[in-house]
Amino acid sequence: MDPDNTGLKCTHCGDLGWVSFLVPVGHPRFGRAAPCPHCALGQSHLNRSADQLLKRAGLPESYRALSLETFAALPEAQLQGKRLALSTVWALAHQYEQGVSLRAVVEMQEKADADTYPDRYSNWLMLYGGLGLGKTGLAAAFINEIAPQGVAALFYRLQELFAEIQSHYGEGGAADNLQERICRASVLVLDECTIPTDSSGAASVDKRRILEEICRFRHARRLPTLFTGNLDQPAFTRMWGERTASVVCEGHWVELLGVPLRARAHTVKSF
Ligand SMILES: Nc1ncnc2c1ncn2[C@@H]1O[C@H](COP(=O)(O)OP(=O)(O)OP(=O)(O)O)[C@@H](O)[C@H]1O
Ligand SMILES: [Mg+2]
Ligand SMILES: [Zn+2]
Repeated sequence: MDPDNTGLKCTHCGDLGWVSFLVPVGHPRFGRAAPCPHCALGQSHLNRSADQLLKRAGLPESYRALSLETFAALPEAQLQGKRLALSTVWALAHQYEQGVSLRAVVEMQEKADADTYPDRYSNWLMLYGGLGLGKTGLAAAFINEIAPQGVAALFYRLQELFAEIQSHYGEGGAADNLQERICRASVLVLDECTIPTDSSGAASVDKRRILEEICRFRHARRLPTLFTGNLDQPAFTRMWGERTASVVCEGHWVELLGVPLRARAHTVKSF
């Protein structure tokens, strides 16, 4: 269709798939192009840039399809015990800079006992609970929601973060540069903050140091940070030490409960 006789399929972008914003000089969007929202070419640019942003965020391929919508669409029986976690992650994805208060999140659900929840605002969140309850999937959904908006988000399994930093030791500052990039990420997700430890439940001195430096750097600058794990506050403190726990425990701690979400295969007999 060519309603304007211009020979163009999309008159909004001149078939380039990109549009620029009519904003004054000095506006953050001045001089920047965005995918055209009116045509298929624009949509394909949008998908490609979302894909690049998610790759840059370090989210494993298999987590890309997990969203807040797919979580909300789980059967009622599976959602039991996980709704506050879902709503908190949803709220945080929409105001990750200011943070959220659990009371405000519960009030949005129109629950009568909202005033029993803390009214304090924080943009730090720990999702914790037993195996397979959806902690990583919610953290991935958080990244999937915000990274395509151009937010410099980073997703790391904590073990992999340590391994990656430690693999650069002795390379003239490379380990420090990587740690600094993680410290400064606009939004950081640290998945599975539980690692093998000594018999007292403490992590190694070096791992404690790395996590403490990252947490204290981000805490001082109020940078949004989401953690997942299966430790409660006392066990977290034993593993990571008081200096890290004191700042992480200042954020929201939401426990996931209910039935595990991982499907189990039926066992069958061989023949
Ligand atoms: N956002 C989501 N949308 C739909 N399904 C999800 C989502 N997140 C998780 N699930 C389902 O829940 C299962 C378990 O989720 P997940 O791996 O996040 O649990 P976990 O609490 O991180 O487990 P673990 O304690 O082993 O780390 C997934 O395999 C998937 O089937
Ligand atoms: Mg997990
Ligand atoms: Zn267009």
